[in-house]
Amino acid sequence: MPLELRTVTHRYGPGSPPVLRGLSFVFPEDCSLAVVGPSGSGKTTLLAIAGLLLAPSEGEVRIDGKEVSRGQAGELRTRLFGWVFQTVNVLSGRSVEDNAMLSLLARGTREEDARAAAQGALATVGLGEFGERRANSLSGGELQRLCIARAVAAKPRFLLADEPTGQLDGATTERVTRALIEGRPKGTTLLMVTHDPLVAAQCDLTLALQDGQLSIGGMA
Ligand SMILES: Nc1ncnc2c1ncn2[C@@H]1O[C@H](COP(=O)(O)OP(=O)(O)OP(=O)(O)O)[C@@H](O)[C@H]1O
Ligand SMILES: [Mg+2]
Repeated sequence: MPLELRTVTHRYGPGSPPVLRGLSFVFPEDCSLAVVGPSGSGKTTLLAIAGLLLAPSEGEVRIDGKEVSRGQAGELRTRLFGWVFQTVNVLSGRSVEDNAMLSLLARGTREEDARAAAQGALATVGLGEFGERRANSLSGGELQRLCIARAVAAKPRFLLADEPTGQLDGATTERVTRALIEGRPKGTTLLMVTHDPLVAAQCDLTLALQDGQLSIGGMA
């Protein structure tokens, strides 16, 4: 299922300079893509637009060859996309397993099916034994892996991650990166913003964002 940005321009205010400038790009399917670029170049903005969290000032997002209308964005976002943010956001008083079920419950999946999928996803990220623990008892790297499990449990077509290893040490970064790249479901396209060249090097392709344009290749 192709994801495409077509002549996307985005500015945050009427007078402000565009962050993205007539950007057109077709994201290759079923692969891992690292997005790199200087701070402030628009990586988070790009992810938010591609993930239907933000409507571009101009241009369109196309999924499966069809333009996504504003009315469709909410439903498609829940059904097709999974998110992992830099800052961990979990229900801290609830169990690890309850948290891992959330993206499935948001889609209307039955509770027992959601629980089974959550258990599978937790095992994939090395948290198989942690299901009953409360989320607030996990370490930073474990919490980040819980966020990955929550996103992948619903088998999203597009998995978007914004600097998921930004706050982690080297060894934990390696585990989290592997959980994302190798733990993502078959057929899932991973789009990951990273400042870490070692993380980018593990992805199939690096995309560089500069001057509001996206190009293939480039250094982190
Ligand atoms: N809500 C907003 N209102 C106004 N300007 C914004 C807003 N969000 C982002 N910007 C500006 O748009 C530009 C791109 O921001 P963005 O967060 O996409 O950059 P980034 O590449 O993700 O940077 P970083 O690597 O520091 O996270 C920046 O100059 C930023 O100040
Ligand atoms: Mg950012």
